[in-house]
Amino acid sequence: MNREEAKKRIQDLIKKLQEHNYNYYVKSASTISDQEFDFLLKELEALEDGFPEFRQSDSPTQRVGGEPTKSFKTVRHTYPMLSLSNTYTEQEVIDFDERCRKLLGSDLEYVCELKYDGVAIGLRYEDGVLSQAVTRGDGVEGDDVTNNVKTIHSIPLKLRGDYPEEIEIRGEIFMSLKGFEKLNEERLASGEARFANPRNSASGTLKMQDPKIVASRPLDCYLYFIPSPGLNFTTHYEGLMYAHQLGFKVSKNVALCKNLDQVFEFINDWDVGRQSLDYEIDGIVIKVNSLQLQKNLGFTAKSPRWAIAYKFKAEKVETFLEEITYQVGRTGAITPVANLSPVQLGGTTVKRASLHNADIIESLDVRIGDAVYVEKGGEIIPKIVGVNKAKRSDDSIPTSFISLCPECATPLIRKEGEAAHFCPNESGCPPQIKGKLEHFIGRKAMNIDSLGEGKIEMLYDHGLVKNVSDLYNLSYSDILGLEKTIKSQDGITEKKLSFQEKTAENIIKGLEASKNTPFPKVLFALGIRHIGETVARKLANSFKSMDKLVEASIDDLVEVDEIGIKIAESLVVWLDKPEHIEIIDRLRESGLHMEIQASEDQSSDILQGKTFVVSGIFQTHSRDEIKGLIDQYGGKNTSSISKKTSFVLAGENMGPAKLAKAEKLGIPIINEDDFLEMITPEAS
Ligand code: IVH
Repeated sequence: MNREEAKKRIQDLIKKLQEHNYNYYVKSASTISDQEFDFLLKELEALEDGFPEFRQSDSPTQRVGGEPTKSFKTVRHTYPMLSLSNTYTEQEVIDFDERCRKLLGSDLEYVCELKYDGVAIGLRYEDGVLSQAVTRGDGVEGDDVTNNVKTIHSIPLKLRGDYPEEIEIRGEIFMSLKGFEKLNEERLASGEARFANPRNSASGTLKMQDPKIVASRPLDCYLYFIPSPGLNFTTHYEGLMYAHQLGFKVSKNVALCKNLDQVFEFINDWDVGRQSLDYEIDGIVIKVNSLQLQKNLGFTAKSPRWAIAYKFKAEKVETFLEEITYQVGRTGAITPVANLSPVQLGGTTVKRASLHNADIIESLDVRIGDAVYVEKGGEIIPKIVGVNKAKRSDDSIPTSFISLCPECATPLIRKEGEAAHFCPNESGCPPQIKGKLEHFIGRKAMNIDSLGEGKIEMLYDHGLVKNVSDLYNLSYSDILGLEKTIKSQDGITEKKLSFQEKTAENIIKGLEASKNTPFPKVLFALGIRHIGETVARKLANSFKSMDKLVEASIDDLVEVDEIGIKIAESLVVWLDKPEHIEIIDRLRESGLHMEIQASEDQSSDILQGKTFVVSGIFQTHSRDEIKGLIDQYGGKNTSSISKKTSFVLAGENMGPAKLAKAEKLGIPIINEDDFLEMITPEAS
């Protein structure tokens, strides 16, 4: 075959395969056998290998073409990726409709859609070719997961028909219930932990480093919103049809509603109908149909005023409480866990539920053997919300909370005013030690990503590390070849894990590199109760060194803005223990920073005494970054505007009510540039 013929055949094959792919994954209609499809794909692969100059980025062979990504690039969204305000009652939907009609002064048409419970994604197409796929992130910036998204067959690599030069479209990536169950069965069989629910499974999959693994997972995607302006449609509904014409998978379960009755009909139908779907939805989204009216309504800082989400009430099922077990957390807090007779809830099998603490157990009066009601809340672990006392047996015994730690048998304590029981054996209780080690290596602390939960467990189980300072005494030969057998949850399958050369080398390298971690993070990494990331940064910036912190009294500590008595006491008590001072000394000897380095000490008190309200979306920093800078430079963040506010730092889409209040009180409104200028030292 000559070059010209090869080029033509490649183009033909791409077109053909794209068409079959579209029919199968978007239209759910099979137009070719799997075998024939593979045959054509192989032919295309061979031709592209022979004539790489004709390889196109929208070729079906490129779905799994990407190399593993070490860390995803953060990219800024062209249009902020906002969320929807949630409502839970009919009245709130009525209020929404009234609000809209009042603002617009006209009757409205709404589009009702399903609210898919997955991961939001923004897709960009340039000249009809998928160029970027970004997760929501904080709404301003997200992760570039393009290589992973390309593996999802229902997402077109190339648009169909008459597409615009540039378009951005948003939707939800999800995993079907069938796909989720199958994946979990496979994971169990190979000794891996099950995913808790389809949403976690979809979001975990999307963040995997290797697109080949992503390709093997059954992800799917519905598209529901085109933020790009100036396209050839004037209503949201037309926008959906347009998206469908471009080759996107758009749900058929959409209704154009002329009035609220029709909206409620849709809601009620799907509250029942969702049982029969092969994916999870957690509510209904109601959107104003006219794009012009959407524009008139505008946005608040967080969400559009032209749409709301109506969330379904959590599904509730009845099952039996077989046993209560107790888990010990990193801080020593004890969590009671209900072990249940397995029951289906929202498409997944539930075997465990949280019981939170002794008060909850007492107020529910829940006993072993009881028939209990289990509900899925927003959290991963479902919760017990009640007991069917009619089914209680006469000989049931009231539950009494344990008094000894289930891990180390130390008597538990419960501080006045606190709900949780604690095991005080901080330095001798295995889950607490492991938890502290895991916290220490975490991303926001020492950021040692060559170590993880499993590896920490292995090092601890082999007696190589008992506290964080032992980590830096590890040598390559200590860890090479360490082995561990991991049992899966079903208790049948086992998997052997062992540290090979590369792993051992990476661990040592990671530890070495972590010695450059700045002091504020080291302080946070120690995992002292109540010393979170921001507090650690404040303390480190105020006292400059660990030695100064050790010397500080409670009075000295509370002098620092926003450091209260609880934090101060916790730090003083921690630093008063000789074993902790020994850890600090050993970490210092290993080369960790125990003081602010001159180069980092750019913090100053430039903003001392100034109070800020930060609102809206910013160009070059996320809202949290801006708040961090305010902290770092000695200022104070508050959430509501009052006479005491020094500045309102306003980004895009700041709420009009806030603006009006600031103006009324005569508080200066500054933008991001003004603020950055404020903290930039003057050139001298
Ligand atoms: S529209 C500007 N439609 O729910 C509004 N969102 O809490 C754009 N979601 O971030 C969102 N199904 O991840 C829209 N049919 C649907 C949806 C939907 C699920 C998600 C989406 C969004 C979140 C809002």
